[in-house]
Amino acid sequence: MKNAIYPGTFDPITNGHLDIINRARLLFDNITVAVTNNPHKAPLFSIEDRIEMIANAITELKCDNVTIDSFEGLLVDYVRRQGAIAIVRGLRATSDFEFEFQMALANRKLAADVVTVFLMPHERYTYLNSTIVKELSRYGAKIEGFVSSFVARKLKEKMKQK
Ligand code: PNS
Repeated sequence: MKNAIYPGTFDPITNGHLDIINRARLLFDNITVAVTNNPHKAPLFSIEDRIEMIANAITELKCDNVTIDSFEGLLVDYVRRQGAIAIVRGLRATSDFEFEFQMALANRKLAADVVTVFLMPHERYTYLNSTIVKELSRYGAKIEGFVSSFVARKLKEKMKQK
């Protein structure tokens, strides 16, 4: 079994993330979408809320080789614990490259046998990320087409509470 980990903050999951999951699941026997906290970002949603939104979005994909999990600590330790062979990351534009390059090389230094695989989402998602979606939602702009209707509803509720 060739298992891969798709790690990220997913705060919240966007259609760009789903595009990457859809591509990755064709390459591996199983993809685990692994939610964690990035120390450089203050998340809007709890890990549990983020998992719920991913689970809902994945149900719509109707596939049986995608699982969801969360982890704390180093990504490569988690990858090893799961017996996975690869880390999947999305690359949208050159602006992503520097951080992704650093992270992939640091992870390779820590675990030379774990490969990082970069996938490009459809170009319609090139500019899309969770931060932009949150900002649009904060000001009441339309976010249909960027996230699932479930995520859009969760964002609306969250912004109302704030
Ligand atoms: O969705 P993000 O915020 O771009 O994901 C970044 C993430 C969570 C994959 C990265 O911060 C991470 O791997 N965190 C776990 C801790 C770790 O292993 N850090 C070292 C990476 S060089």
